[in-house]
Amino acid sequence: MGLGYTHTDAISEPIRMPASLSPPLPLFLSLLLAMLLSSAVAADFPPVDQLPARPEFPDPLVMLDGTRVTTKEQWESKRKPELKALFQHYMYGRLPPAPTRQTYSELFRDEKALGGKATLSEVRITFEQPSLSHPIHVLFAVPNNVTKPPVFVGMNFCGNHTLLDDPRIHLPEVWCRNTCPGVVNERATDKGRGGQQDLWNIDLIIDRGYALACFYSGDVDPDTPDMNDGIGPAFYQPGQSTAASDDAGTIMLWAWGFHRVVDYVERGAGGAVDPNRIAVVGHSRNGKTALLAGAFDERIAVTIPLQSGCGGAAPSRTTDTRAESVRQINTSFPHWFDGNFKRFQDPLPSPSDANGKTVAPRREIINQFSQNTNRLPFDQHCLIALCAPRPVLLPNAEEDLWANPNGQLEMLKLATPVYRLLGSPGLADGATPAINKLIDSPLGYFLRPGKHAMTRPDWEIFLTYCDQHLKAATSGRPDKAATSGRPDKAATGGRGK
Ligand code: GCU
Repeated sequence: MGLGYTHTDAISEPIRMPASLSPPLPLFLSLLLAMLLSSAVAADFPPVDQLPARPEFPDPLVMLDGTRVTTKEQWESKRKPELKALFQHYMYGRLPPAPTRQTYSELFRDEKALGGKATLSEVRITFEQPSLSHPIHVLFAVPNNVTKPPVFVGMNFCGNHTLLDDPRIHLPEVWCRNTCPGVVNERATDKGRGGQQDLWNIDLIIDRGYALACFYSGDVDPDTPDMNDGIGPAFYQPGQSTAASDDAGTIMLWAWGFHRVVDYVERGAGGAVDPNRIAVVGHSRNGKTALLAGAFDERIAVTIPLQSGCGGAAPSRTTDTRAESVRQINTSFPHWFDGNFKRFQDPLPSPSDANGKTVAPRREIINQFSQNTNRLPFDQHCLIALCAPRPVLLPNAEEDLWANPNGQLEMLKLATPVYRLLGSPGLADGATPAINKLIDSPLGYFLRPGKHAMTRPDWEIFLTYCDQHLKAATSGRPDKAATSGRPDKAATGGRGK
């Protein structure tokens, strides 16, 4: 691959079909079938107010119609597609299809970067069908002394140029949040260069023998309530001008972005990294996205949502008042989820008329999920279970109660039966969390002291966990072997936009 190359990837196929559908069908048939599978199920989903209220966590191994799942085949061919369809319908919106063609253009390449230890490049991915006016830029750092290293695919808050102080790295032209380093009037400037290098720790990643492919969320969809300023409208039907109730919210659009970067490292990067050893990582809202991306794309071998909280690895049905609730997240970040997630009815008390007679409550639609989380036909352990048997690590911070570290551990416990059905131990029996002790089972957990942030010690843990679950694998997907950045306050303005 030479300097300034451009080449086109003729087809992207992030959707993997259930094992029961093998031998592989021709691609277009597989895609058609995947669409039919999810739309057939989605069409039957009841309106939210007709979903049964269930305060307990739904059993991931029981279908919506009550059928118990007892075999791997039933999980793969029935329950997994049903859960994917449910999450898309009621919460995140539909994952847009992969473009039929995407083109990779290398913007620069330096084979002696980081003191000669790494090859650093940046690639612009552009798309056709749909044609998108939102190219994704990927900063790609690969260690020079490792053949086909494993790779982290990460999404950043503030632009690739904040990862390293290097004038060759492209400055985003699109919206950037004013609290990011160097941003003036929602536009990136040179002053931001290297402003988040302590969050991403590229030197450490390279020293430990891993590559990093990182992209900026705003390339895909700026983190604003406006759903028309990102890639979303490229997937609208003719004549459609606003998002439908099950069109992708911003987190699902970002997950689509993760998948495009996985396309790049898998097929576009000239074999520079090992496509069987891809880990995804993101912090906070980007961690919610990493988890969703991992759940919907089996090319991703390890999923690491850091302090992802509500809408990520923390339960929606939480009783912990210190943790973020669905009501709070939908109020502050209405664009993150789809229309159905916000259109749940409040249980209104039945009012009395003038004579004291009880009358039927108004059938008012309140524009948020609020107390009705118990109508959700899933909780976030089901999203983790969609990764099974692939490893998932949930790193947390002791003081970050907003992200609900205890609730996240509970989600790992409840996802474990699915892992066990597929032959993986899931969360190790009797695993007890303790500060600074990595629980390194395939469903992993870590709690460090301190606050909500992505730090160097967090990366040390990601790397140690991946050394165990990813680096050792030399052929085939590590999952198969197993079964045989919320940045700191200064960076994003803290908890809020
Ligand atoms: C807010 C939000 C969280 C989110 C975080 C972030 O705190 O309430 O859900 O994780 O921002 O992404 O920074």
